[in-house]
Amino acid sequence: MSTISGFSKLSKAEKMHWVADTFFNDSQQVIKEWSNFWHPDATQQDILDGFSENTISNFPLPFGIAPNFIINGKPYAVPMVIEESSVVAAASSAAKFWMERGGFQAQVRSTTKVGQVHFLWTGQADTLFTQVAAIKSKLLMDAKHLTARMEARGGGIKNIELLDFTQEEANYYQLKVAFDTKDSMGANFINSVLEQFSTTLLEIASSFPNFSEGTLSIIMAILSNYTPDCLVHAKVSCPVRDLEGACPEMDAFTFAEKFYTAVRIAQIDTYRATTHNKGIYNGIDAVVLATGNDFRAVEACGHTYAARNGKYSSLSVCHLEQGVFTFELEVPMAIGTVGGLTKLHPLAHRALELLGNPSAVELMEIIAAVGLAQNFAAVKSLITTGIQKGHMKMHLQNMLHHLGARNGEMEAIIAYFEDKPVSFAAVRTFLEDLRK
Ligand code: MEV
Repeated sequence: MSTISGFSKLSKAEKMHWVADTFFNDSQQVIKEWSNFWHPDATQQDILDGFSENTISNFPLPFGIAPNFIINGKPYAVPMVIEESSVVAAASSAAKFWMERGGFQAQVRSTTKVGQVHFLWTGQADTLFTQVAAIKSKLLMDAKHLTARMEARGGGIKNIELLDFTQEEANYYQLKVAFDTKDSMGANFINSVLEQFSTTLLEIASSFPNFSEGTLSIIMAILSNYTPDCLVHAKVSCPVRDLEGACPEMDAFTFAEKFYTAVRIAQIDTYRATTHNKGIYNGIDAVVLATGNDFRAVEACGHTYAARNGKYSSLSVCHLEQGVFTFELEVPMAIGTVGGLTKLHPLAHRALELLGNPSAVELMEIIAAVGLAQNFAAVKSLITTGIQKGHMKMHLQNMLHHLGARNGEMEAIIAYFEDKPVSFAAVRTFLEDLRK
């Protein structure tokens, strides 16, 4: 039987055994492998297990460092968690390149987050608008037990707006609520407030005579991961002539123009824009993950923003004006440096410490700078050597592990492929010849 009821109630060992015995032929070996990835310290393992459900093992990802980032004049060694080869190397090389040209400038434009209560109202729209205006203070008062601490930190609810969507769906209205959650990502805070708003709305609708002309029913209350007003901007800039050396085979002006055109293509063509932005998120996600933040939320938001003008387009822009090269990125993101996993995950906690325990605003600036660096490095490779040269060199290690290359063989293969194109077939053939 490969289905089960009550799986979640089994102990961890029982879960592991059931999965191993049901889906694998070598169950003992599989259990050994899973167990090998348990944390040697039981307390730490308990913390990890607490993040999710039905856990049987841990799934490690590389934790790397991109040093030499100068952001707003301050040096950072940036922690990055990513499984793709070349990403950390590319970020590091872009950081160093721009370190010698003034570094990154980054600035948070705004920090507003959004939540929504979606509901149906069968009465007159006018009645609803009048009543909601009248009960705003009651909504705020009822949520006070949730908002008081956030308000003490300088955040809280910034605005409540009633929106009428009845043209698109009969009886559908929305409370759109703006929040400032300071240094926390704020998902739990926002969702708790929204659920309290739903309760208050229902209570009032069922007890206020002014609501008697219709019925009000809540559909759902949830934050929006689209936060276009939680926005950060990052930029690098230098005289075009200072780009000399970016590529040995190209002069600075040719490089700048080719780079500019490559970014323009990502603004024009959606297929290219998607890959271009994926390159940006290689950097952004790696830092978001390393600092214990929600990379799905950050990506979802960024891709929606990339389509804000009705067409999915590049998140970065390049300018060539009066002999000056400027490359900029504007990206929304909802992240935090307190709450969630940020302090609970032992490595996220250290990652934040490595960055000097930044505020959420400073972390947004760091992340945007890394996204821009990653994008710069990717486009630079694409318009010069192509990405495969560097990528396959980095990927060679993975191939060697996959092919079971031993010490001695590894060094010989790496030396041989130093000046030759790397492919899986070529490496396998060389290894076979080596062993003959
Ligand atoms: C690969 O992970 C990312 C790139 O494809 C990004 C790009 O094309 O700009 C290199």
